[in-house]
Amino acid sequence: MTKPLFIIILIALLPPSPESRRLPFLGKHSRLHKPQNNLISNNYTYEIRYFQQTLDHFTFHDFPKFPQRYLINTDHWAGPSRMGPIFLYCGNEGDIEWFAVNTGFVWELAPLFGAMVVFPEHRYYGETMPYGSRDEAYKNASTLAHLTAEQALADYAVLITDLKRNFSAEASPVVLFGGSYGGMLAAWMRVKYPHIAIGALASSAPILQFEDIVPLDTFYNIVSNDFRRESTSCFDTIKKSWDVITFVGRKVNGLDHLAKTFHLCGKLKSRDDLFNWLESAYSYLAMVDYPYPSEFLMPLPAYPIKEVCKEIDGSAEGTNVLDRIFKGVSVYYNYTGKADCFELDDDPHGMSGWDWQACTEMVMPMSSNKNSSMFWEWDYNYTSYAEGCWNEFGVIPRPTWITTEFGGHNYKSVFKTFGSNIIFSNGLLDPWSGGSVVENISDSVVALVTEKGAHHLDLRAATAEDPDWLVEQRAAEVKLIKGWLDDYYTTKKAIFNM
Ligand SMILES: *[C@@H]1O[C@H](CO)[C@@H](O)[C@H](O)[C@H]1NC(C)=O
Ligand SMILES: *[C@@H]1O[C@H](CO)[C@@H](O)[C@H](O)[C@H]1NC(C)=O
Ligand SMILES: *[C@@H]1O[C@H](CO)[C@@H](O)[C@H](O)[C@H]1NC(C)=O
Ligand SMILES: *[C@@H]1O[C@H](CO)[C@@H](O)[C@H](O)[C@H]1NC(C)=O
Ligand SMILES: *[C@@H]1O[C@H](CO)[C@@H](O)[C@H](O)[C@H]1NC(C)=O
Ligand SMILES: *[C@@H]1O[C@H](CO)[C@@H](O)[C@H](O)[C@H]1NC(C)=O
Ligand SMILES: *[C@@H]1O[C@H](CO)[C@@H](O)[C@H](O)[C@H]1NC(C)=O
Repeated sequence: MTKPLFIIILIALLPPSPESRRLPFLGKHSRLHKPQNNLISNNYTYEIRYFQQTLDHFTFHDFPKFPQRYLINTDHWAGPSRMGPIFLYCGNEGDIEWFAVNTGFVWELAPLFGAMVVFPEHRYYGETMPYGSRDEAYKNASTLAHLTAEQALADYAVLITDLKRNFSAEASPVVLFGGSYGGMLAAWMRVKYPHIAIGALASSAPILQFEDIVPLDTFYNIVSNDFRRESTSCFDTIKKSWDVITFVGRKVNGLDHLAKTFHLCGKLKSRDDLFNWLESAYSYLAMVDYPYPSEFLMPLPAYPIKEVCKEIDGSAEGTNVLDRIFKGVSVYYNYTGKADCFELDDDPHGMSGWDWQACTEMVMPMSSNKNSSMFWEWDYNYTSYAEGCWNEFGVIPRPTWITTEFGGHNYKSVFKTFGSNIIFSNGLLDPWSGGSVVENISDSVVALVTEKGAHHLDLRAATAEDPDWLVEQRAAEVKLIKGWLDDYYTTKKAIFNM
């Protein structure tokens, strides 16, 4: 069995097709937006602005500029004369408002530090579209060519420099934040633009998930272990289910039977579609295995994997494997009980931006190891990966470019020698922690790791249900950031004799 190509697991915070699923959260068109959720502090409001951005920072071709959307709040800012800091969230692959409302931590820190908060949107996502519209921007490989991490970082550098000039805030220190791909951008930006930002909090940032830096099976092993730690019989049932599905699918009308068992809206075209749908559920569950109920990707209970396994294990003795699995994944896909039927076709919009990035720079090899994974077995096959990219986009990936551009293979010695003021935070339940920095590298390149945390949990707003280890992780982050700012001000004062 092979892993059907298309890059189903996005690094992404996001499941495929964020727009369609997320609209209810967003209040897309309101200028001042207050999220409706159960956070303690939902006090964040922001102004939406647009900045005329350069399409290609690395040539002098005269492309038309495009409006880059950014969110800004200066309510708590100490102002330019007091060198009030600027907290810059490095937007990732989706609508920036959605990231803003899911990054409560930054908003909560702003008043403590007298900081301005800025959330620029990543090019080619949300409303930030070159060429006037999404359709034009996503037309073909030439128009997508400027969707790269390097261009996005240059956007943030240009925007923040211009913004500081407009506020006469050249002396204000910038602190970077980011989660997931945004966390990778934050860490890379600190390294590439040390004159622009004094430090970075990179949460769940898998900057090592490239080439062979980490074992290729780490991601799916972590997902699998998250299930195994709840219950070995749950793990075993899921592991067995792939053969059962294959067996049933091969019978006469077998695919129809599967479609009925799993309450699919339409026909099941191939077994692989069902495999991928299930795999997505398990992988996303591992990412959002948060200690309290959340609505990050889907409305879910606290520690949702425990609930999934209760369903899978709890079904009466003798209930068949497929019914158990169905009840389990229903916790993910139908927690609210409102789903009439399930659509497997997750990406009605066709090309997604992350697929393009995965087909050019962000080649993250992954496999599933029969010995340790609860998934079916597959090897990473670059040839078929590249074929898929050629068929989809007419582009050939450059799988070694990221490590050439940003490093990775010898990250410990490089960070130790040339890096400073970076926090890599991770929760070990998060499968992306396998490709992240989880060891301290130096006094100022620090790993803050929680055993029971999941995907950039620390960036979320504080809640009354936060366990102590999470409160402590955030407190440690605040202390480190305060240290960076204190150092900065001390140096400035010495220079200007202030
Ligand atoms: C939210 O705003 C209100 C009114 O300005 C204030 O009293 C309250 O302390 C704020 N809450 C938080 C958590 O900042
Ligand atoms: C992509 O689309 C643009 C705009 O329509 C067109 O000018 C260009 O030739 C196309 N490029 C390719 C490689 O098809
Ligand atoms: C800075 O001000 C100029 C002039 O008003 C404006 O065009 C530009 O968009 C501003 N920059 C930012 C980052 O908002
Ligand atoms: C979702 O849950 C509700 C309530 O349990 C149930 O009636 C409905 O059939 C479920 N939807 C699907 C697609 O299974
Ligand atoms: C699985 O385990 C067996 C026995 O320990 C070992 O020989 C084999 O190489 C392992 N396979 C993988 C893919 O790790
Ligand atoms: C990898 O994929 C290519 C292209 O689909 C195929 O020809 C080749 O046999 C595959 N390699 C392995 C080891 O499965
Ligand atoms: C890294 O060092 C900090 C102290 O600066 C400590 O709190 C933390 O636990 C260490 N991280 C790891 C992964 O050992």
